[in-house]
Amino acid sequence: MVVGRRRSAAMFSGTAANLLLVAAATLVFSFFPTLTDARDENPVFEPCADSKIQRKDGFTFGIAFSDRDSFFFNGTQLSPCDNRLSLANKGAQFSLFRPEVDEISLLTINTTTSFAPFTSGGWMVAFAGRKYAARSPPIFVGNSSYVVTSFTLVLEFQKGTLQNLFWKRDGCASCSGKSNFVCVNNNQDCAIKAPSCKGQGQGGPVDCSIGIQLAFSGTDKNYAVLNSWYEVSNLQQYSLYGLYSNLRDSLTSQYDKVF
Ligand SMILES: *[C@@H]1O[C@H](CO)[C@@H](O)[C@H](O)[C@H]1NC(C)=O
Ligand SMILES: *[C@@H]1O[C@H](CO)[C@@H](O)[C@H](O)[C@H]1NC(C)=O
Ligand SMILES: *[C@@H]1O[C@H](CO)[C@@H](O)[C@H](O)[C@H]1NC(C)=O
Repeated sequence: MVVGRRRSAAMFSGTAANLLLVAAATLVFSFFPTLTDARDENPVFEPCADSKIQRKDGFTFGIAFSDRDSFFFNGTQLSPCDNRLSLANKGAQFSLFRPEVDEISLLTINTTTSFAPFTSGGWMVAFAGRKYAARSPPIFVGNSSYVVTSFTLVLEFQKGTLQNLFWKRDGCASCSGKSNFVCVNNNQDCAIKAPSCKGQGQGGPVDCSIGIQLAFSGTDKNYAVLNSWYEVSNLQQYSLYGLYSNLRDSLTSQYDKVF
């Protein structure tokens, strides 16, 4: 049985002066029809704070969009929570999410209205925690030529504390031979030509909203094993999209040949 759920999140820029709110949504996919029994006992809703999770908790993390260099201080990549980066002053944008731990989720960031990733520098970093300041490597989202729209993010916990965030890349297999797509970054990413995209500064017909498939691995604070990684690890880029009828109508119809 397949159960889909939608959650909302907010995107904001660091400075109050140019506060930008962009609707972002979380689609949650579960193999079990028991979603109503889920309970979230994690009191931490702030991405730059430490929390210890168990299965069924919500877990808050952020994604920062900026240029690649702004994630580094003196040659070292720091967490976007670290003030030394002063990302807010560099025009970075932040998106917050609170998925349920160990649920396979698809997060979406709608880029057709007021947010275009490449106008915020074109790279993103996922992050959470303060003492345990986990951050993913920066990953390319787009520039004025190309936009990458599909990502898989793995959140790895040890005894309930986030240890690691990493992007799983599976090359260009899912888009090879598809005329809408270009394979970029040394055959690592399927990208859409930016002028084909709808929205901010682009006049094209394609909804290039960003989709991020989430998976969890490791152990929760009760040493229970987080399994969703095993379920998602065999899926390719775009493979969750077809499960959501509302996305099928917007995002996926243009990728017809991908599915
Ligand atoms: C920058 O890094 C160098 C070499 O690791 C170190 O000597 C220096 O103190 C660092 N500067 C700051 C401001 O952290
Ligand atoms: C993005 O927003 C537009 C306008 O509200 C909507 O038509 C479109 O379906 C949305 N795309 C996604 C992927 O949610
Ligand atoms: C945009 O990004 C692609 C892929 O990384 C790169 O090949 C291209 O040179 C970039 N174009 C510009 C104008 O930065």
